[in-house]
Amino acid sequence: MITTADFRAHPLDQVHRLIEPGPVILLTTQRHGTPNVMTNGFNMMVRHAPPMIAATVGPWDHSYRALVETGECVIAVPTADMAATVVDIGNCSGADVDKFQRFDLTAVAAREVEAPLIAECHANIECRVADTSLVGPYHLFLLEPVRAWTDPSRPAPELLHHRGDGTFTVDGPVLDLKERMTKWQYLL
Ligand SMILES: Cc1cc2nc3c(=O)[nH]c(=O)nc-3n(C[C@H](O)[C@H](O)[C@H](O)COP(=O)(O)O)c2cc1C
Repeated sequence: MITTADFRAHPLDQVHRLIEPGPVILLTTQRHGTPNVMTNGFNMMVRHAPPMIAATVGPWDHSYRALVETGECVIAVPTADMAATVVDIGNCSGADVDKFQRFDLTAVAAREVEAPLIAECHANIECRVADTSLVGPYHLFLLEPVRAWTDPSRPAPELLHHRGDGTFTVDGPVLDLKERMTKWQYLL
């Protein structure tokens, strides 16, 4: 009989490493005309339609205040070739440095929000903060996408996934199991 004695106890403060939270994203904001960008690993899709995304942004981040005050952001999805830049963006603050300049990022005007898109990212999602009721307890913002853009020159981008400790996995082969999605035909 298999019991928990056959397993190794995993520290609770390391649980995040067991569940991949989706691709690492860059989250841009703009406050008083100044754009900023941060790295975000704790994010997830919440709803298909109308779409809803949740992301944790802590009060220790300069971006937090911009997000609270403006109620807007852009989720920019970087590709694996941007890995080092993604980590560096998450290791300095817009309070001290203009990260668009330091990391040579190209800000592109969004259509619905003041926060900029990032040209180097393969996808950009313009979002409005839809619900702040979980910000107090969890720093969790519910973000409603209002426009989304992808770069047609990169149809099969490789995304980055943070393993929680500064190591990353990169998208690998695609498994096509669509024929088994009998209950979820409308998603295909
Ligand atoms: C790989 C990685 C993932 C991160 N994920 C998050 C996250 O999910 N939530 C968060 O608040 N900060 C996260 N951070 C930390 C912020 O990116 C970091 O505090 C950054 O300096 C904030 O920038 P800002 O002060 O300009 O807003 C992450 C950093 C890295 C390197």
